[in-house]
Amino acid sequence: MVKSIGIAKVAFLLVLFVSTARAQSIFDATKDGAKANGPDINAALTSTWKKACASATPSKVLIPKGIFLLSAGKTTEDGGWVTFQRIEGFTFSGDGQGASSWGACGNDYCKQLPINMRFDFITNGLVQDVTSLNNKQFHVNVLGCKNAAFHRFTITAPANSKNTDGIHIGRSSGIEITDSKIAMGDDCISIGGGARNVSITKVTCGPGHGINVESLGQYEREEPVVRITVKGCTLTNTDNGMRIKTWPASYAGSASNMHFEDLTMVNVSNPIIIDQAYCPHNDCNAKHPSCVKINNVSFKNIRGTSTTPIAVKLACSSGVPCDSVELANIDLKYIGKEGPISSECSNVKPKVIGVPNALACGSPTAAPSRKA
Ligand SMILES: *[C@@H]1O[C@H](CO)[C@@H](O)[C@H](O)[C@H]1NC(C)=O
Ligand SMILES: *[C@@H]1O[C@H](CO)[C@@H](O)[C@H](O)[C@H]1NC(C)=O
Ligand SMILES: *[C@@H]1O[C@H](CO)[C@@H](O)[C@H](O)[C@H]1NC(C)=O
Repeated sequence: MVKSIGIAKVAFLLVLFVSTARAQSIFDATKDGAKANGPDINAALTSTWKKACASATPSKVLIPKGIFLLSAGKTTEDGGWVTFQRIEGFTFSGDGQGASSWGACGNDYCKQLPINMRFDFITNGLVQDVTSLNNKQFHVNVLGCKNAAFHRFTITAPANSKNTDGIHIGRSSGIEITDSKIAMGDDCISIGGGARNVSITKVTCGPGHGINVESLGQYEREEPVVRITVKGCTLTNTDNGMRIKTWPASYAGSASNMHFEDLTMVNVSNPIIIDQAYCPHNDCNAKHPSCVKINNVSFKNIRGTSTTPIAVKLACSSGVPCDSVELANIDLKYIGKEGPISSECSNVKPKVIGVPNALACGSPTAAPSRKA
């Protein structure tokens, strides 16, 4: 049914600003013809953002309160339904009406479908109080941003919505995601090549595929992933808790200085997982090891329940084994009936502190630390 993906209503609620010391130019989309309850505003938004981008000073784009129509067929040039550039903060809410297109490309990423919101090349930005509902593809894509914070995002779609990653971060530095609720059918947050200095705190995730450092090694000269922290998050009914995955037979790459701390897993299939032979649908050469080096990773204070017996899986590459992996204060219970809880580890010798023997990858465990 073509009609069902034709039009979406998007409610832009309120425009908030953060104060900055530097002068800013303001661009009002209504001056370019955006009108509440009027015709499709894609063209108006495109011209407003073009002006904002061409501006020499930091700029803000104003979108008034109201319901606006955007045509789904016409995506912006870069494949976003709505692309935000150089904006300082606003409230945005809407319904992507994506149900008709979930799974439209089988298990594959659907390139022709729009991403609900793209944040491209935003520097020193704050975006908060955003709701994204039932998107067709990724909800939020963060690309080329520097020092951008995303607070209080609510992302909602059903568990069966394929390839609807909540927030994807690539080639960006200084990204902060906090106080957010993400429920949908794919990765709640995916962290891709070139993500540096990313901090994720107080996020609830589920249903979905958990928080992922993503599918590295697929592209040549992929930039390293470095300095990632995930802290104080709760994952509920997800396929993975905290996962790092890389492709086998891959290009060289690296992911390092990643610290995952104070995480609660509720009924999660794979609470702690490094998978360097990630090969969905068997369409890769799994015989050759991944060439992505994983180094300096810790999982600390992780508690909760696992729905599979292998609650800790560290499957590192035989080509470039993982270095400096630490497991500390892990308290996970298996809630199924297929035997005792266990861990499965290869090409890694983690340092373990306060981890039950069964979850310690066969490494000798030290006493729990006294940290609460
Ligand atoms: C990342 O953080 C480190 C340490 O806090 C800092 O030295 C570095 O400049 C930051 N890099 C980027 C790209 O934000
Ligand atoms: C491990 O990562 C942390 C956080 O980025 C960093 O402070 C520390 O220096 C790293 N350790 C090594 C040995 O690189
Ligand atoms: C726990 O997760 C399993 C799938 O892994 C699901 O079938 C079950 O309904 C979940 N339990 C609860 C209480 O949500």
